[in-house]
Amino acid sequence: MKVMVTGAAGQLGTDVVKRFEAEGGHEVVAVDLVDFDITQRDAVVGAVRHAKPDVILHGAAYTAVDKCETEIETAYNVNVMSVRHFAEAARDTGAHLLYVSTDYVFDGTKDSPYHEWDTPNPQSVYGQTKLAGERELGPDATIMRTSWVCGEYGNNIVKTILRLLDGEDDLQFVDDQRGHPSFCADLAKMMFTLATEKRPGTFHVTNQGAVSWYEFTQEVAKAAGHDPARVHPITTADMPLPAPRPANSVLENRALALSGIELLPDFRGPLNDLVGKLTSSG
Ligand SMILES: NC(=O)c1ccc[n+]([C@@H]2O[C@H](COP(=O)([O-])OP(=O)(O)OC[C@H]3O[C@@H](n4cnc5c(N)ncnc54)[C@H](OP(=O)(O)O)[C@@H]3O)[C@@H](O)[C@H]2O)c1
Repeated sequence: MKVMVTGAAGQLGTDVVKRFEAEGGHEVVAVDLVDFDITQRDAVVGAVRHAKPDVILHGAAYTAVDKCETEIETAYNVNVMSVRHFAEAARDTGAHLLYVSTDYVFDGTKDSPYHEWDTPNPQSVYGQTKLAGERELGPDATIMRTSWVCGEYGNNIVKTILRLLDGEDDLQFVDDQRGHPSFCADLAKMMFTLATEKRPGTFHVTNQGAVSWYEFTQEVAKAAGHDPARVHPITTADMPLPAPRPANSVLENRALALSGIELLPDFRGPLNDLVGKLTSSG
């Protein structure tokens, strides 16, 4: 299979490229902003026509959630128009399209985990653009919604927490936002399955084990051999940010379960692996 991976230099994209290369037998066309700008229709359609991929994994996005509140045109261009262009190119060439979406499509007010058939109601510009991106897709595309993405490459919260733990100060993290941490290496494996099987429809794909950011930070501290008592709970109101975050970000992976696909494991195993890698490489 020939696979085009967008956002290939990002934290998830890097692991996706590595996964397909590790599986062997697949040709990977890894693209990022240095190759072409996904907001440009002609560039997208031209690149897809030239590469003729069987599958396009579209993970590139404008992920600066707070900046999206003010850089609205950029957010819509990168997160919505790019999907329109890839959907057009996929239709044109017969490629299957998998789009990576987010827990931020929900408002977070539900008192139980969100499944794929719950009604989205995004509260941030980022969430609105990612939902609008979903709506650019035809019924045959795969939508993979994930949450709290952490990995070995790029910037992410685990690296930030480890850096803070290396300092002298105690840490404060919110205890009133809950979600499923998700690890790029595991997400990449599931993307491999969904993409090679060309599964249509929306799938929530996360690691298991719901925690607040405060609890997650304590788990990172434990995994790295630091005292978890250095982490203190605060509320969202204590730390206002431009973009509202869903209080309940927990995604139930109902469509995977109903499809008989084994869910990704509890986050603590992959977290230990990741912390081991990040701390041993310096
Ligand atoms: N991070 C999370 O917690 C999270 C949670 C749920 C869902 N997601 C979704 O997961 C996907 C991957 O997220 P991530 O954390 O891996 O993101 P990331 O590290 O920010 O990677 C995004 C990539 O997209 C590229 N990109 C941005 N604008 C572009 C443009 N105009 N043309 C071409 N490429 C462009 C970026 O390139 P530059 O770096 O050069 O700008 C970057 O390599 C995204 O779709 C995101 O919405 C993420």
